[in-house]
Amino acid sequence: MGTARCGRSITIKPPGDKSISHRSAMFGALAEGETVVTNYSPGRDCAATLKCLQALGISIERQGDRVLIKGGGPGGLREPVDVLDCENSGTTMRLLAGILAGQQFMSVLTGDDSLRRRPMARIVQPLLRMGARLDGREGGLKAPLVIRGGGLRPLEEYALPVASAQVKSCIIFAGLHAEGTTTILEPVPSRDHTERMMALFGGELRAGGGRVCVRGFQDLRAASLEVPGDISSAAFWLAAGAILPGSDIRIEGVGLNPSRCGFLRALQRMGCEMEFSGLRDEWEPSGDVRVFGGPLAAIEVPPEDVPALVDELPILAVCAAVARGKTVVTGASELRHKESDRISAIVRNLQAMGVTAGETPDGFWVEGGGRLRGGSIETRGDHRIAMAFAIAGLAADGETALDDPGCIAVSYPGFMETLEHLKESL
Ligand code: S3P
Repeated sequence: MGTARCGRSITIKPPGDKSISHRSAMFGALAEGETVVTNYSPGRDCAATLKCLQALGISIERQGDRVLIKGGGPGGLREPVDVLDCENSGTTMRLLAGILAGQQFMSVLTGDDSLRRRPMARIVQPLLRMGARLDGREGGLKAPLVIRGGGLRPLEEYALPVASAQVKSCIIFAGLHAEGTTTILEPVPSRDHTERMMALFGGELRAGGGRVCVRGFQDLRAASLEVPGDISSAAFWLAAGAILPGSDIRIEGVGLNPSRCGFLRALQRMGCEMEFSGLRDEWEPSGDVRVFGGPLAAIEVPPEDVPALVDELPILAVCAAVARGKTVVTGASELRHKESDRISAIVRNLQAMGVTAGETPDGFWVEGGGRLRGGSIETRGDHRIAMAFAIAGLAADGETALDDPGCIAVSYPGFMETLEHLKESL
């Protein structure tokens, strides 16, 4: 593609992956011995996971982006003396619920206003079937959740009603505490970080053909691991590179797990020029990605593509606003159950920037290609909405203001500084 380059390449190193960081802390707490995690996510969500694990009796030391976790092995968790606050983090609540369902004590999981509105029946139902005693507000639909665990039975074949890595991982953790083998059937593959991490901690798990099988009561051993950069955080800079003509942005050390890379594939389908280098094929593949700004064209995102880019749909919508033609996203009703109703937030904020866009029950559409104008962005306390529209502001005429930039710290505390640096370099 004939792209005019403005010369200098800008390199950005994203923070450690949020999904992988949560899991490393939880596996570390369950394993016997000292786990050392480097490049742990600096966001508030992953700090909430560490605080909950400390309240469960796990000794954790944080030294910058290094976290040392002294896991207690089987029976190593103790009853917390207070409720466990998962703050804004769905991953903390849903994955911990799976672990706590296997413990012979009572615990209560709660969170902020947003998390207490999010659906929990998806984990409550399978955990009840495994024999855990748990309940929540609105008849078990919402947090706070009260869990009295222990004595779990395996689920012989549990078909996930939604393609959700959080639900899958919750059941994997519960399955580790059940006598026998638990089998989960996935409608569409979702991120497989839990499955990959099991082997790193000396556990066994079989996955393939839409099935995940895990045996209970395995001995997990402590591990040392480095968390790759977060592709979901990198997505904002990749999008900035893609939508700003002539730009050249290089992302260093980012996770390239195929079950998370849907956004890269979507950007390529939109016509974005991309180069990969320094590929490392380890327990979690990673490498460097470079994007070059140039013309983009609209795409259709079908339901089967959604799980691999579910968190990137707000920033994909921003790319769609710049791309020529009509982008249509379907099969993404899960977006209504994230930190905010993201379908509504995406469309409202695109419209505030002068873009023609609309909602459907399970997705949205965007008529792209016109000029964006600066606007007032309603973040709804949702970090990914805030970051997506801060990037949209780069391509807009006039000023764009976010009502609550503070919410970005949930996943990416240094985002605004990097954005300022990027603006100066452009
Ligand atoms: C996550 C899975 C996704 C994603 C969330 C993190 C995880 O949720 O939206 O931000 O770490 O497992 P679902 O699996 O529920 O879609």
